[in-house]
Amino acid sequence: MKEKGKLVRPIWLDAAADIVKVIDQRKLPHDLVIMELKSVDQVIDAIREMVVRGAPLIGVTGAYGVFVGLKTNTEKASDDSWITGESKKIAAARPTAVNLSWAVEKTVAAVMAEKDPARRVDVARRTACEIAEEEVENSRRIGQHGLTLIEDLVRKNPGRPVNILTHCNAGSLACVEFGTATAPIYAAFENGLPVHVWVDETRPLNQGARLTAWELGKAGVPHTVITDNAGGHIMQHGQVDMVIVGTDRTTYTGDVANKIGTYLKALAAVDNGIPFYVALPSSTFDWTIRDGVSDIPIEERDPDEVRYMPGVTHSRETLLVPEDSPAANFAFDVTPARLVTGFITERGVCGANEDDIRRLFPEKI
Ligand code: MRU
Repeated sequence: MKEKGKLVRPIWLDAAADIVKVIDQRKLPHDLVIMELKSVDQVIDAIREMVVRGAPLIGVTGAYGVFVGLKTNTEKASDDSWITGESKKIAAARPTAVNLSWAVEKTVAAVMAEKDPARRVDVARRTACEIAEEEVENSRRIGQHGLTLIEDLVRKNPGRPVNILTHCNAGSLACVEFGTATAPIYAAFENGLPVHVWVDETRPLNQGARLTAWELGKAGVPHTVITDNAGGHIMQHGQVDMVIVGTDRTTYTGDVANKIGTYLKALAAVDNGIPFYVALPSSTFDWTIRDGVSDIPIEERDPDEVRYMPGVTHSRETLLVPEDSPAANFAFDVTPARLVTGFITERGVCGANEDDIRRLFPEKI
């Protein structure tokens, strides 16, 4: 993602100061505010309050959280049970994205393998940076594999843009660079292919309207923001060629947890014969869960996120509902594998079923 011609990531280690810095995504698109994460509590708050959000980015932040914990508590570096306890707190900051526990556990395993406590902080820093770079490379590859799908659609529909619908923000802001769902779109755009993106606003926190629209706009990719309820209508009227979404956790059988409303988009896509793809790095597969609808934990957030509308200042001053009306705020839903056309991963495109997933990742199961 470029800001004033300079590459900007949503998280980075300021090497000179040895401090983890993030973009406060609650303030976008109106203000670009940088926040420093200097304690484990600040890391947990940043994840929970969605300063940082999006599955791969939450994972990278969790990994940096292990580093921050060790750096600010060097006297505890030999205390394995303290390290385990702090990491469990970080991993529990949000429940649905499996990348969080995956990245925290990977960092802790590297730290524990280092027996010299004085070197553990360096191991944590290095591992977190490596995970960030791995996610960049995963996104880049997802972009290349997904590009072939868009090229096919361009060939099928000469003389007009390929219309791609996406939900929430599975872009650079949700990853480290390129995004997952957006990576093929950016690759297509950079290759000169005509693309146009329908951006679901994604109530209640409007990650589509605020974040996806912001980053597509910065990259110059043609896009239109639509209400969450508009997708079915434009699909019925031939205005969507393909849906690409991200995911927070996908079972090894192909069930996909993603931002609330994704399931309805998949139903509408299938009803209209429109391919519904899910783009994800291998860090988002859960190799332990078979049935996503029953077993993926769905985060429930503060109902006030539904009752109030955040504005330019992110204050909650605009009440949308009657003062006394309660609200429910399910943050994710699960799209069963049968509705998914395929997965776009760093290793290639595969069907949404156990056999195809196993073929692509034979070492995982
Ligand atoms: O609640 P959020 O904003 O963290 O939800 C993010 C999503 O649902 C994304 O689609 C998902 O994490 C994939 S990000 C590449």
